[in-house]
Amino acid sequence: MKILILGVNGFIGHSLTSRILADSDWQVFGMDISSDHIEEHLDHPRFQFLEGDIGINREWIEYHVKKCDVVLPLVAIATPKSYVEEPLKVFELDFEENLRIIRHAVRYDTRVVFPSTSELYGMCTDDAFSEETSNLVLGPISKQRWIYSCSKQLLDRVIYAYGQKEGLRFTLFRPFNWIGPNLDDISIPKEGSSRVVTQFLGHLMRGEPIQLVEGGSQRRCITDIRDGVEALMRILVNQGGSSDGRIMNIGNPRNDCSIAELAELLIETLSRFDRYRHLRKTAVVEKVSSREYYGEGYQDIQTRVPDISNARTLLGWEPKIGLEEAIEHMVHFYVDREAPHPNDR
Ligand code: UGA
Repeated sequence: MKILILGVNGFIGHSLTSRILADSDWQVFGMDISSDHIEEHLDHPRFQFLEGDIGINREWIEYHVKKCDVVLPLVAIATPKSYVEEPLKVFELDFEENLRIIRHAVRYDTRVVFPSTSELYGMCTDDAFSEETSNLVLGPISKQRWIYSCSKQLLDRVIYAYGQKEGLRFTLFRPFNWIGPNLDDISIPKEGSSRVVTQFLGHLMRGEPIQLVEGGSQRRCITDIRDGVEALMRILVNQGGSSDGRIMNIGNPRNDCSIAELAELLIETLSRFDRYRHLRKTAVVEKVSSREYYGEGYQDIQTRVPDISNARTLLGWEPKIGLEEAIEHMVHFYVDREAPHPNDR
């Protein structure tokens, strides 16, 4: 199978590529604006990479959509602070540029595996969010946080319609707070520059305070990237066509925790390393209002639990990695990337 991954150096892109090259005989064609996370694969005989931009290298993209069996358009802005501060960029990249890819896929009859998002459900009040029955609940237009959710929702609807009207083969997957190595660059100290786990980790490792937006009682289901990638492999295999035309939440309902609990767990995990032992006593956890942290255009989701019965039934998939193990795996990765310390466990 020939697979085109746009955004191959990103969090999901590089994790999936490593797994594909290790465990299958598939060929990967990848494009990204940088290559620091895929360097180890650049000479792999089944990996071809172009350093390029989705908005510029359009001919290369069209040619490869035509040539490949399946395309994963993973290029997107995915940090909530950007939704509030750069709403037009989010729309242009996450919707407009990706729509072009979808249209190529329709034209050349290429299968699409598209990253939808847990954000689509917005402030839905269901105990667990279902792809089939949950309402998608967004706030007023002045709350620009929802432009990401809305852009992704419209693209989900467009892809679904292309499936119905023009026979596009597609699968929409919805990651629920996937975490793991290279989730974000933790060296950027700016508030909101990464997702919460990496944001906290960067602050803690630099000895800076971490901030709980509105006290941190809001909850997320944290999912280990290795479970996520396993689901994606099954979607790509597409046994008996079971993933065709389907939407699947990919998350771990058992890893439901509040942001305050997450902060505690990160401090505890990090302080098991010698050089961070002091954090048990010295870590500073502050409370901040969402207006101060994100600005007026922010609104939050209090609970976000996936109903994963679709993925269970269609893929025979079950998330296996618990919250502590997921956090530990990620913390280890980021600590190891600093100069290794002889006294660390
Ligand atoms: C994320 C992002 O939108 C996407 O990466 C993705 O599509 C989706 O959810 C997902 O991964 O499922 P969210 O979970 O709200 O959205 O983003 P985070 O930045 O990880 O924030 C989680 C929670 O932590 C929010 O309630 C936020 O207010 C809080 N937070 C964040 C803090 O309390 N302190 C911080 O420093 C940062």
